[in-house]
Amino acid sequence: MNKKSVEESEVTITELMIPAYANFGGKVHGGILLSLMDKVAYVCASKYAGAYCVTVAVEGVEFLTPVEVGELVSLKASVNYVGRTTMIIGIRVESLHPQSGRLKHTNSCYFTMAAKDEQGQLLEVPALQLSNETQLRRFCEGKAIRKLSLQKREYLKANLEGIDMQERMAMTIGERVEVTFSS
Ligand SMILES: CC(C)(COP(=O)(O)OP(=O)(O)OC[C@H]1O[C@@H](n2cnc3c(N)ncnc32)[C@H](O)[C@@H]1OP(=O)(O)O)[C@@H](O)C(=O)NCCC(=O)NCCS
Repeated sequence: MNKKSVEESEVTITELMIPAYANFGGKVHGGILLSLMDKVAYVCASKYAGAYCVTVAVEGVEFLTPVEVGELVSLKASVNYVGRTTMIIGIRVESLHPQSGRLKHTNSCYFTMAAKDEQGQLLEVPALQLSNETQLRRFCEGKAIRKLSLQKREYLKANLEGIDMQERMAMTIGERVEVTFSS
């Protein structure tokens, strides 16, 4: 069986948050961090798969602690779980204030990445070798995240596809919304 260790997938990207990354409130734009997460997920997945990879789904992105301009953001990524053609990449984002040495854990999130060949066909990825309890815990979390991701797609399909206007209007009851069609 073609297999690889978690360690072989590990990668870290570090970037200084410059003033051009700020939003109107002076904090770092969420989109800058999302872009860095996508980059580190791509490197981690393609290093592990030995192939070109694409982003399939993202779970758990939350911006609970703002990142400030002048901080050094590090994104640590590893493959936590593998299916047949997809991998779940766990990303831990930390932000360091260089002068004070204060380190914040800003968030952890999970990117599902698929491996593709040169024709764009899905490619089988190596099996994952787990060598400690942390890796086993993350594998189990990854399995649950994948289930959640697929269930979410099924739920939206089952509940929203093909519903009529009456059912849509019923969904607005009790919500903070006013429906006023002009014609
Ligand atoms: C995502 C994609 C690969 C699914 O293709 P598909 O033909 O519907 O494939 P399948 O249903 O057979 O699933 C293939 C794999 O994707 C996984 N998958 C599909 N939808 C998923 C979702 N919403 N969340 C997580 N995983 C998902 C399946 O579990 C399966 O994984 P496995 O091979 O590891 O078991 C395909 O839609 C695609 O290539 N999308 C474009 C991705 C892209 O280009 N991203 C760049 C950003 S623009």
